[in-house]
Amino acid sequence: MTKDLVSIKDLSKAEIEELFKLTDQLKKNKNKFSEVLAGKTLALIFQKPSNRTRVSFEVGMFQLGGNSLYLAPNEINLGVRESIADVAKTLSRYVDGIVLRTFEHKNCLEMAKGAGIPVINGLSDFSHPCQALADLYTVKEKLKTFKGVTLAYVGDGNNVCNSLLFICAKLGVNMNVSSPKGYEPDSTVLKDAKVIAKTAGSLINLLSDPLLAVKNADVIYTDVWASMGQEEEAKERKEAFKDFQVNKDLMKLAKKDVLIMHCLPAHRGEEITDDVLDSRNAVVFDQAENRLHVQKAILIRLLNNRCQ
Ligand code: CP
Ligand code: NVA
Repeated sequence: MTKDLVSIKDLSKAEIEELFKLTDQLKKNKNKFSEVLAGKTLALIFQKPSNRTRVSFEVGMFQLGGNSLYLAPNEINLGVRESIADVAKTLSRYVDGIVLRTFEHKNCLEMAKGAGIPVINGLSDFSHPCQALADLYTVKEKLKTFKGVTLAYVGDGNNVCNSLLFICAKLGVNMNVSSPKGYEPDSTVLKDAKVIAKTAGSLINLLSDPLLAVKNADVIYTDVWASMGQEEEAKERKEAFKDFQVNKDLMKLAKKDVLIMHCLPAHRGEEITDDVLDSRNAVVFDQAENRLHVQKAILIRLLNNRCQ
């Protein structure tokens, strides 16, 4: 693996599969490798709120024998109090890894470039790689295979969607994306994902009709209509996305055993209705749990490297 994890695009299929194998072992036995990161510290620099990402990284680090340090938005004041490169260079003298949750993706790239230690993207406006890894691990856990699997993403072409596009393409999973006009995923990501998918033998489709996107899909995935940082657009987005809700009408067209996925937090009653989110098809808390197991594998691969 490369020094950092800033985008799924930087991982090969073999590296993803290898991470999943290690995740299997860690999930089976939470005490496995309980000393592997002893004496190591992970800094978590968060410019946005978090439940899953912060907690799973802190608990994961603890379970591996290491320590974590949460740095809230006002403490480091990234790029305002001092430059990202100076933060990166300073922290590299104290800690063994950094998780960064930020707005512009270029902040992650700058942090990774400036740091002599691994930098993990804990969500940027462009991507959410740890989420996508936990999600596809969950798909494999539930469906046992990626072969012939179709994931339908209904909603905003955002950070989560971008990472899903890359990981589905790499693993040979078909992906249908259905977003309102003007809210489709980044065209470069789509183009890249299509090229990668072709090699892996899968298809990436952009479909304007959500009903068509979910028909025959094995997984339906959605995320909030307004991401963190887009709160001011919430009202206009509600209007634009109103036909893209995952609800019982949409479920009527889907396979009976379709998996319902959401990265959470969910805005219940907006992108997804309670009945669907609370249905037996939903695996959203398995996804959330798998963040912990997958990220422990990531931490072992990246933070343990230097002593191997
Ligand atoms: N899915 C996810 O990243 O959740 P948090 O924003 O709570 O970390
Ligand atoms: N797209 C959402 C994901 C939250 C985990 C956001 O960026 O707010």
